[in-house]
Amino acid sequence: MIQHCPTPTELDDLELLVSGAYAPLTRFNEPDSVVTLDLPDGVDDAELVDPEGLPLARVAADGSLEPLTHAQYGPFRRLHLTPAQVREQHAGATFVPVVDALSEADLDELRGLGRVVLLALSGTGTSPLSPVALVRATLAAADLLPDAAVVAVPLPAHGDAEADHALGARVVQTYAGDDPVHALTETSGDLPAAVAAIVDEDQPAPEDQGLVLFFTGLSGSGKSTLARALVDLLLEQGGRTVTSLDGDVVRRNLSAGLTFSRADRETNIRRIGWVAAEIARHGGVAVCSPIAPFTETRDQVREMVEAAGGAFFLVHVATPLEECERRDRKGLYAKARAGEIPEFTGISSPYEEPDDPAVRVDTTGRTVEDALDDVLVALDEDGYLHLRGTDG
Ligand code: ADX
Repeated sequence: MIQHCPTPTELDDLELLVSGAYAPLTRFNEPDSVVTLDLPDGVDDAELVDPEGLPLARVAADGSLEPLTHAQYGPFRRLHLTPAQVREQHAGATFVPVVDALSEADLDELRGLGRVVLLALSGTGTSPLSPVALVRATLAAADLLPDAAVVAVPLPAHGDAEADHALGARVVQTYAGDDPVHALTETSGDLPAAVAAIVDEDQPAPEDQGLVLFFTGLSGSGKSTLARALVDLLLEQGGRTVTSLDGDVVRRNLSAGLTFSRADRETNIRRIGWVAAEIARHGGVAVCSPIAPFTETRDQVREMVEAAGGAFFLVHVATPLEECERRDRKGLYAKARAGEIPEFTGISSPYEEPDDPAVRVDTTGRTVEDALDDVLVALDEDGYLHLRGTDG
């Protein structure tokens, strides 16, 4: 039986299936259910492991589960109670589902309810806040109530609003048992200071958010030159940490030994994406400049970065092949034409042009400053970086 690490959403679902929170649903992939599990092609049963490799459950071909260990990863694990534990500890309370930071008005509404259990629905994608920030914000709000407990329920979103709403209502009822459920009416308004601080930290303004600037384009298109100039500008301005992940440089260290086969190029780009996402997670700026010829891999990088709370800004350096080949600064196009370098991008290996770049720059006949200005203008308009204009 193979080991398989499910996606964050699937791991949330697994926990709720096993804890009884999804009752009467107890298995993945029931007809018409949004609670699904994708296994690799050709695999129909597997041992499901957490990201650190701890076996959590076995899943059979029909989606049914045999639990092995309780999930042990993740912050606020102690607040992840099963419905049975909640009923044992909190019988007689009023149960309140929470999907966003609680406002002053929400708290006023809750003060009239006596003992409450705030069910923070902290699964992947359910709250506009990150899962951990939702729980932190809910704990901070609970401190302002006379008698409130917080329980974290990792109910994820499945991309089907109606089905998710019905599923969520059922889960909340399962936790409440025979006790009342109170749905909050107020959804906006001023936040208590302690709650607002948590929200601000979780959702920084664009100019404080982690940022991945990703230059893609053919060899010789000017990616590295533009990326370098941008890194220098950022360093001159100060105030942000900057890491450069240039294609050629990465291939000498992080990706040493990889070839230019499709599979190895994908591995190379995913490694760059992984590092860039970690940089973004810490609020830094990563400037990447590999060829990155495949749309699918670029999209994966975007997902990784956004999942880490960063912004992904794609720059297509769209200098045409003829111009790159005319420049041929490294003499590689000549060698590729002569058949000395196999699988050369643009000659004997494909380059898929992005159709969704934040900005597209053709460097033909332009100075570096001039071409870079297009990027700076777009970054400025999107609010990410306000770098001084090249003439200033
Ligand atoms: S990628 O396709 O995996 O994104 P990457 O940016 O890391 O490519 O490396 C591209 C650099 O490797 C080019 O700038 C060039 O100097 C060099 N190179 C060597 N062989 C090839 C090849 N077959 N195709 C493209 N670039 C190559």
